[in-house]
Amino acid sequence: MAKYLCVNIDHIATIREARKVREPEPVAAAVIAELAGCRGITVHLRQDRRHINDGDVHLLRHTVVGSLNLEMAPTTEMVQFAKTVLPNMATLVPEGPNELTTEGGLNVEAKISEITTAVQALRSSGILVSLFIDPVKEQVKAARKAGADYVELHTGSFAEAFERRNESEIELEVSKLQDQIALALNCGLKVNAGHGLNYRNVKRIAGLSGIEEFNIGHSIVARAAMVGMDKAVREMLALIGS
Ligand code: PXP
Repeated sequence: MAKYLCVNIDHIATIREARKVREPEPVAAAVIAELAGCRGITVHLRQDRRHINDGDVHLLRHTVVGSLNLEMAPTTEMVQFAKTVLPNMATLVPEGPNELTTEGGLNVEAKISEITTAVQALRSSGILVSLFIDPVKEQVKAARKAGADYVELHTGSFAEAFERRNESEIELEVSKLQDQIALALNCGLKVNAGHGLNYRNVKRIAGLSGIEEFNIGHSIVARAAMVGMDKAVREMLALIGS
């Protein structure tokens, strides 16, 4: 099975919003990421609009050539917005006002009717729907019941175990992911994965079969800042004439 990368560019907008100015421009980052070979671009339009804003999503819809994946809370307001923008995929995620980043997967089982309504509304506009869930069987089964096309399995616990260098915990998290990939595929769902994947840990997850798309953001934006630093400083030195 082919494996694809979708680059989450939220934190390009985070840097812009640190100064409330025009740069760095998420659309420019998206163009460069697509030219480098990723399948598509992912953005999370949060209800507090702390990084990506509505205008960014509209611009990206006009400029992204591959797939545009819109992460969003399963609210009526967000569903309406998605239906006007028509991303290729909508990934429904839980959202808390004070969280630094998405914490945990959606509790699809507990919110089945709300999520089913959102899934149906999005799918009726031709948008593929993915549900971001923890790798547990009840959530996979509920995602199937809600009528989703994809699940995105949350790799955050794996990433945390990896940072602790705890081999038995890493193995446990990998086996949870493996089991739920198999269950999802058996249920007719397609499988994406993401959260906390980085240059140290990604190989362990990329080695699992059955995952179609990897959604990776923070580590790529962080690495871009590092590998671009030398050039950026040299360009400024040249302008100053130092
Ligand atoms: N997938 C989902 C559903 C997310 O919410 C996020 C974070 O926005 C990611 C993937 C990317 O996570 P990271 O920035 O840790 O790579």
